[in-house]
Amino acid sequence: MSTIQPTDPGWPAGHPPVTAAGLGYDPWDPAFVADPYPALARLRSGAPVIFDERTNQWLVSRHADVNALLRDRRLGRSYLHVASHEAWGRTPPPADQAPFWDLLAVQLIDMEPPDHTRLRRLVSTAFTPRTVESLRPRIEAIVGETIDGALALGEFDLIADLLELVPVAVIAELLGIPAGDRHLLRPWSGDMTLMFELNPTPEAQRRATTASAEFEAYLRDIARERRRAPGADLISQLGAVLETDGDRLTEDELIGTAVLLLNAGHEASVNGAANSWWALFRHPEALARLRAEPGLVPTAIEELLRFDTPAPMFERWALEDVELHGITIPRGQELALQFAAANRDPAAFDRPDEIVLERSPNRYLSFGAGIHYCLGAPLAKLEFEILFAAILRRMPGLRIVEKPAWKPRFVLRGLEALRVRA
Ligand code: HEM
Repeated sequence: MSTIQPTDPGWPAGHPPVTAAGLGYDPWDPAFVADPYPALARLRSGAPVIFDERTNQWLVSRHADVNALLRDRRLGRSYLHVASHEAWGRTPPPADQAPFWDLLAVQLIDMEPPDHTRLRRLVSTAFTPRTVESLRPRIEAIVGETIDGALALGEFDLIADLLELVPVAVIAELLGIPAGDRHLLRPWSGDMTLMFELNPTPEAQRRATTASAEFEAYLRDIARERRRAPGADLISQLGAVLETDGDRLTEDELIGTAVLLLNAGHEASVNGAANSWWALFRHPEALARLRAEPGLVPTAIEELLRFDTPAPMFERWALEDVELHGITIPRGQELALQFAAANRDPAAFDRPDEIVLERSPNRYLSFGAGIHYCLGAPLAKLEFEILFAAILRRMPGLRIVEKPAWKPRFVLRGLEALRVRA
């Protein structure tokens, strides 16, 4: 139905008489990226499930639907556990992109049970609330040093000079990446994740492929070195599992896990922190209140992640026909679950378009739900808590000096820079 319009006789029964583009859903339009919420509200109220012919995806935007579908085993992050690309009616990715696709296939986030269950169990021991809490002193030290560095600059980019440095340092340290190599990591993550954008350009695909090959080679060297000379880091711990119980973990999965943790630790965390601060600067009354009542930080960081989530949509494949609001999404088709729309759904949140610092309970979906629920959520929340409290305390006059620009991407939505003065 790629070219069918609502006025055509073949328009499917039950489908709303509008197009996603007609409602303003345009992930390639800088104005949409800067403020997608009015268009997402139109989708949510007028077309809670709608086929978008430009992306070949079914857009789902209500909180109750997104929340239920994330837990619904008739959907999968991947279909490769049940069918080949050809059997699924899809063209396999070009062979020269193998470095990207092969690396994705061994990542937890793109696996389904039973492989997902096996790998998640192995990796999750490093991310239990207790293990994460034990990182608190180290995170506090990293935050302290990073703030010292930013304060010395006077005027600076809150992202590059502060918000980015903390999650990158924390996750790199956890994995045991040498400090001297850390500058390599964010560019690799940034390029690799370009492939997740909607209809990536050939240039984006080329950059993602090159970054994947370099990232993989770098981590394979580190993993082999750690097996020879283990340390206290997560790569060494996973290497030990490989050594003693190769049936439960392959070397490729170990590399895939390291890449995933670094990518997730970089992209979502950095954008999440930066989007939150930009939201606070746009709502000076909320920022002033948070400065006066720092005890609100724990609920505030979750509210800010709800208000402007850094990862506004995630995709799923229909492994069976799924019916929603009287419309059948056929097996084999792709859904784009609109987290950002769900997070502003008035059916799930009072005053959804306001920042309510003490909101509780807060059923925001920014960390997902179901079996793929963000493994790093406890870590991300602890990092944000320490970082935000320290910025509020040590930079009481922090203010924006220039209106920031959004990167031209929607799936991992973030700012280019955030110029501030302390
Ligand atoms: C504010 C920061 C973050 C946000 C908003 C975020 C968001 C998400 C979301 C929405 C998912 C689920 C995707 C889906 O269902 O398709 C996810 C999965 C995941 N995240 Fe995060 N994340 C953040 C930080 C982190 C950090 C710091 C780490 C690790 C250090 C991490 C590691 C992971 C992993 C490993 C998965 C895959 C889990 C699985 O498939 O079982 N994330 N994240």
